[in-house]
Amino acid sequence: ANTPSPVTVTVTGAGGQIGYALLFRIASGQLLGPGVPIRLRLLEIPQGLKAAEGAALELQDGAFPLLAGVEVTDAASAAFDGVNVAILVGARPRGPGMERGDLLAANGGIFAPQGAAINAGAADDVRIAVVGNPANTNALIASANAPDIPVERFTALTRLDHNRALGQLAAALAVSPGEIRDVTIWGNHSATQFPDVAHATVAGRPVVDALAERLGDAATVRAWITDQFIPRVAKRGAEIIEVRGSSSVASAASATIDHVHDWITGTPHGWTSVALSSDGSYGVPEGLISSFPVRSVDGVWQIVQGLEIDEFSRARIDASVTELTEERDAVLTLGLI
Ligand code: NAD
Ligand code: LMR
Repeated sequence: ANTPSPVTVTVTGAGGQIGYALLFRIASGQLLGPGVPIRLRLLEIPQGLKAAEGAALELQDGAFPLLAGVEVTDAASAAFDGVNVAILVGARPRGPGMERGDLLAANGGIFAPQGAAINAGAADDVRIAVVGNPANTNALIASANAPDIPVERFTALTRLDHNRALGQLAAALAVSPGEIRDVTIWGNHSATQFPDVAHATVAGRPVVDALAERLGDAATVRAWITDQFIPRVAKRGAEIIEVRGSSSVASAASATIDHVHDWITGTPHGWTSVALSSDGSYGVPEGLISSFPVRSVDGVWQIVQGLEIDEFSRARIDASVTELTEERDAVLTLGLI
């Protein structure tokens, strides 16, 4: 049988916390599926190089059959040369009391040169997943600096929020997260995001009906969704920071694996959530990187169309999109896009 040639996967911030949780799962084959050899490129800034080099030694010690090679560099041009999958993690994490928007200026400068380096060197089929916060706007900056790469290749991670929503619903309904389908995260990966259960099902029936069975009546369900579910999911990042003392790592790495895996291999179990360049669907201004319900079809994300959006949902989507518009205006003013 022919062995496929290795897929080049570049991870930025590879010496950091998420990098450490991510690299070994990539090397084990969980990102691209069984039988696909991988060439890893680890990009760091000079202060992070030793940590990335240490991870590279441990990757060697893992003796992963699919791992065709590991290179560590602090040069974006070398890191992104021929890249097929670029996972942009390197950024400064949020500390206690900081909102993600505070990080715009600090992190924005990282993503313009990286976008340019991807533009210059990436393979034709390159897919980009931005994890570093503020993820949506960092993806916008990278994309704006990569004019030759189709905008639909630039995505930002809201799969962690999506998985958090599944986790909360599974606990409330005492079912496995795998039984729940068609939850949506709309908007920004921030506290304004809208986790939407209006179309979600559990074992084939509407989640809201299953919730009513457990909680009482429709009004109680609405109150639970508004006062508990939505804020719990939207502020889960802050809750993790509060409880762990630092931002989420293993769950973020796991969601990143899910995001890229499903992008490449498909979404057979209903839709998922990804932040991608809006085509104007659902009234989200074209070009904003906003989270939508999506299916992966032949390796391309497609926004699920035709969902009915009630007044409550409309207001929540609009609020998050307003924040994204403000972030875009801020980086425009900073000259980053
Ligand atoms: P970390 O500080 O442990 O690691 C970040 C690494 O990035 C560091 O090693 C640093 O040296 C490196 N880095 C900084 N600038 C770089 C550059 N220009 N090029 C290459 N590397 C660079 O942080 P972490 O815990 O791994 O988190 C990384 C990012 O992910 C943060 O922005 C965090 O807020 C974000 N995050 C996003 C989500 C999400 O769901 N989208 C979830 C969790 C964390
Ligand atoms: C998360 O959602 O856990 C990350 O974006 C970290 C943060 O700053 O909340």
